[in-house]
Amino acid sequence: MRLWDGRLQSTPAPELLAFTSSLSFDKRLAADDVVASRSHVKGLGEGGILDPSEVSILLTALARAGEELADASFNFAPTDEDVHTAIERRVTEIAGDVGAKLHTGRSRNDQVATALRLFTRRELTGLAASVLRLQEALLDRADAAGDAYLPGYTHLQRAQPVLLAHHLLAHGWALARDVDRLLATVERLDVCPLGAGALAGSSLNLVPDWVAGDLGFAARFENSLDAVSDRDFVAEALFDLALLGVHLSRMGEEVVLWSSEEFGFLHLDDAYATGSSMLPQKKNPDIAELVRGKSGRLIGHLTGLLATLKGLPLSYNRDLQEDKEPLFDALDQVNLGLVAMTGLIASARFDLDRMQAAADQSASSAVDLAEWLVDKGMPFRDAHKIVGSLVRACVERHVPLTELVEAHPDLGTDALFLLEPGTAVARRTTAGGAGPGPVAEQMARFRNRLAEDAERVGRSPR
Ligand code: ARG
Repeated sequence: MRLWDGRLQSTPAPELLAFTSSLSFDKRLAADDVVASRSHVKGLGEGGILDPSEVSILLTALARAGEELADASFNFAPTDEDVHTAIERRVTEIAGDVGAKLHTGRSRNDQVATALRLFTRRELTGLAASVLRLQEALLDRADAAGDAYLPGYTHLQRAQPVLLAHHLLAHGWALARDVDRLLATVERLDVCPLGAGALAGSSLNLVPDWVAGDLGFAARFENSLDAVSDRDFVAEALFDLALLGVHLSRMGEEVVLWSSEEFGFLHLDDAYATGSSMLPQKKNPDIAELVRGKSGRLIGHLTGLLATLKGLPLSYNRDLQEDKEPLFDALDQVNLGLVAMTGLIASARFDLDRMQAAADQSASSAVDLAEWLVDKGMPFRDAHKIVGSLVRACVERHVPLTELVEAHPDLGTDALFLLEPGTAVARRTTAGGAGPGPVAEQMARFRNRLAEDAERVGRSPR
């Protein structure tokens, strides 16, 4: 079926269709198009544009086309330019003459924007639920880690010991912001474009508010030009996905580091590791590397769409068809990556002894020595200098720090307890800090947050 036979006389060149068709990818919007078309038809009935029998014929035909799409018996024709054209063609085949009334008061411009909003609303909410599952895996591991600790790093240099639970929840909180962002995007996109037509609305008695309500949208569009040309919601979704991808990438990078022999902090379960085709001894962290690698592609999708949008005059331009492939791909990649990382985190084995041994180097208590002097009334800068020169002497002269501390007039034997394993982390008592007290509180807050977010994504708390 061609939609513009009246205006253009010759059949489209095959290369035109080959280049402009979006059917191969926008098939994915089929179910949403049917749902939106049903509301559109009912709206035409509400507005008195179609009589009840016409409405019923069209709804029956749409239902049948929907079933054929669902069980894959739907026959797409080579001339179907996109999924919207295909569905209208099929409805017309089933409904006969009345089929020609389906597109009354509607353009593919408002139609495609509506289907894509329905799709994105559902997908982003579903994705937020998958993020929650990864957060739950992190919380479980944090819970099981108890008071185990490891070196915390800055500049990838050992800095201060932190509880393993604290480290895992740091990733968990970043993911909580991702959930927030995804849901905020859903809230903003919850607007129905139907009724905007090609760009200006219609002379017919359309009922956009009614249609918006029927589709469960929070509101109808405010401006018809904006309704058909706005792809902010796709750009926002791509940003949310890119940043989520960056968070997964940073977790992935740590898994790569921690599972190396150099660190030895984490051992991947065999089911979540790969081998080498040549080197029999290898056990590789490919999942972690691929989430790291795919984040580049996700950033590319965002910048690609922004570049597509930046020069477009109002209102609809065919360039906008370029919104779908990056969105679909970004959703697929992030969904797969989330599930894989959830399994990886849930099944990995942490080598707590190695972590603790790395954290128990006496220099990791350096700031505790300085803070002990501050407690005794010394200005922090002076204390910092004293401890700094002790550590330097220790490195240069290969003398254990304990000996130097014991011999120092301001420190002495009273300060030695600070160098004992586990003391430094136990002394991190600041709210939100890395020690057992604040981490227990943090864990409770994180657990509450997950329960609240589970409700926000329409899932019962576990
Ligand atoms: N497949 C098109 C898209 O995704 C549908 C809209 C076509 N509209 C038009 N005026 N050619 O944007």
